[in-house]
Amino acid sequence: MQAPMRANDRQAALLVSVAVGIVVAVVTTATFWWIYELATGPDRRAAALAAAAPYDPSSGVRIITAAARNAPTDGREPWLGQQAWLEGVQAGQAWVQQNPNTLNVQVLTGMNSAQIWGYMQQHVSGALGVSCQYCHNVQNFAADTIPAKITARNMLRMVGQLNAEYVVNLPNWKGNYVQCATCHQGQPQNMPAVNDQFTKSVPPINVTVNHLNEQGEEVLDPAQKPAEIRDPLALKDAIMFYVYNYQVWRPFNQADPESGRGSMALTFEGGPTQEQVNINQTVMNYQGWSLNVGCNYCHNSRNFVAYEGITDPKPGSSPSNNAPSGNLPNPQYAYNKLKAQQMFLMTTWLAANWETFATVPKTDPAITNNVGEFGGFVGNTYYRRINGQVYTVPGCYTCHRGNAVPRAAINQAELPPGEAGIVILPTQLRGGGR
Ligand code: HEC
Ligand code: HEC
Ligand code: HEC
Ligand code: HEC
Repeated sequence: MQAPMRANDRQAALLVSVAVGIVVAVVTTATFWWIYELATGPDRRAAALAAAAPYDPSSGVRIITAAARNAPTDGREPWLGQQAWLEGVQAGQAWVQQNPNTLNVQVLTGMNSAQIWGYMQQHVSGALGVSCQYCHNVQNFAADTIPAKITARNMLRMVGQLNAEYVVNLPNWKGNYVQCATCHQGQPQNMPAVNDQFTKSVPPINVTVNHLNEQGEEVLDPAQKPAEIRDPLALKDAIMFYVYNYQVWRPFNQADPESGRGSMALTFEGGPTQEQVNINQTVMNYQGWSLNVGCNYCHNSRNFVAYEGITDPKPGSSPSNNAPSGNLPNPQYAYNKLKAQQMFLMTTWLAANWETFATVPKTDPAITNNVGEFGGFVGNTYYRRINGQVYTVPGCYTCHRGNAVPRAAINQAELPPGEAGIVILPTQLRGGGR
């Protein structure tokens, strides 16, 4: 028979087991952390870095003034580089003195030449990273001879409509408008629709898309499907199909917990298939990487169907590390899922109307030969074929670039006190917002 343990032994045994417990816990946590770090650390750090570097239109002006002179092959004037920039700005100054009132303005009506000149420098030239010559014959700023100017005018109209129909109507809208820089960010063409982290995260598989119709029923018959998804397609391309073809079949209604259902809903008659779960997850990752947020930025992780608000982020934490739900939602962070849904309707509207903005179809064989019958990726840029022509259409990442609120959006209210009231985004482009 064993002698009963002495008090000292019992204490020692307790101490040892506590110590072992702590070591095991630390090692386990460290191992998990290490694996997590190994898997996602570099990407997350790169994304956080990208998100921390702000973009403003004067960055575009720096791009122009730092760039080498560039001569387009279509016979236009050289338009990039310090010298072209200075020539353009000076010609603009002289033009404004001779023509204080505008001559051929169709969208920015009500502004005088000096105001337009100011807006053009930072927010048009600066946004695209091009000098005035890209769109203007600098002897005559009123002439409509360069096709890029016609596109730019249509883009002015597009920005006004986008803000009016989608942005200012966001629930709990924070006051940021879309402007040229929001998409262009110092680049006139070929803006990315996705980022590297998303590209790396998508498995290279083909999927069959059985999208949901207006009643929320799965469409199985290939003959009933849009041509783009009649045959199995790459998962990455299937995601873009959802970004450009989103529809809501049960509009959001605060009183109805089953409302707000659309193209990405999983629970419906018949139940979701593994393939739909796969597609849904990849669309969700696409949003996550575009905004650099986790799932609970938009969802209560105990109820993915619901549209309730989420809680305040802990001070100093990234929005994806929100305190567990259960606290009262902070209206500032509420409705992000609903906002995302509105944004899907916006990208769908953009895709459907893209041709009417007279954007310039691509002719570069390195692009056109690599884009399929309906569209496809070249690098991180997504190209769509519309009536046989190849165009870039924006996705979530084009504006967001790893930020919940795009850094290159413009918020009149956040101007420094001395600058409040200055016309930065002309009211014509604000769509009736403040
Ligand atoms: C990306 C194309 C683009 C660039 C770059 C650009 N502009 Fe413009 N500009 C336009 C468009 C489009 C209009 C006409 C706006 C409208 O119809 O409402 C315009 C109109 C003007 C007008 C008014 C002309 C009139 O009809 O009276 C002036 C002045 C002007 N721009 C100056 C400049 C200057 C100076 C620069 C360079 C700092 C510049 N623009 C860069 C597209 C551009
Ligand atoms: C919603 C995103 C978005 C916004 C906002 C936007 N653009 Fe664009 N823009 C694009 C895309 C995408 C293209 C097509 C580029 C391509 O096919 O590579 C384009 C093309 C253009 C082109 C033709 C460039 C070329 O040489 O082919 C011009 C000029 C232009 N935009 C001017 C503007 C101006 C000026 C504004 C602000 C009034 C503006 N854009 C706002 C997305 C946008
Ligand atoms: C930027 C906001 C946003 C982020 C981030 C996000 N979601 Fe979603 N989620 C949505 C929207 C919008 C829908 C679409 C609802 C629809 O179409 O019916 C949705 C739908 C879903 C659904 C289907 C719910 C239903 O009604 O059947 C699931 C499941 C889901 N998300 C899971 C996730 C997961 C897991 C993550 C993280 C990897 C995530 N979401 C990240 C906005 C988001
Ligand atoms: C044309 C530019 C543009 C595109 C494309 C775009 N967004 Fe946005 N998004 C914005 C702007 C601007 C805001 C800020 C509005 C505000 O001030 O409330 C915003 C805000 C949001 C918010 C709310 C963030 C917050 O913290 O308030 C979510 C969620 C969001 N977008 C999701 C998406 C998703 C998902 C997509 C793709 C389907 C997308 N966005 C595409 C411009 C864009």
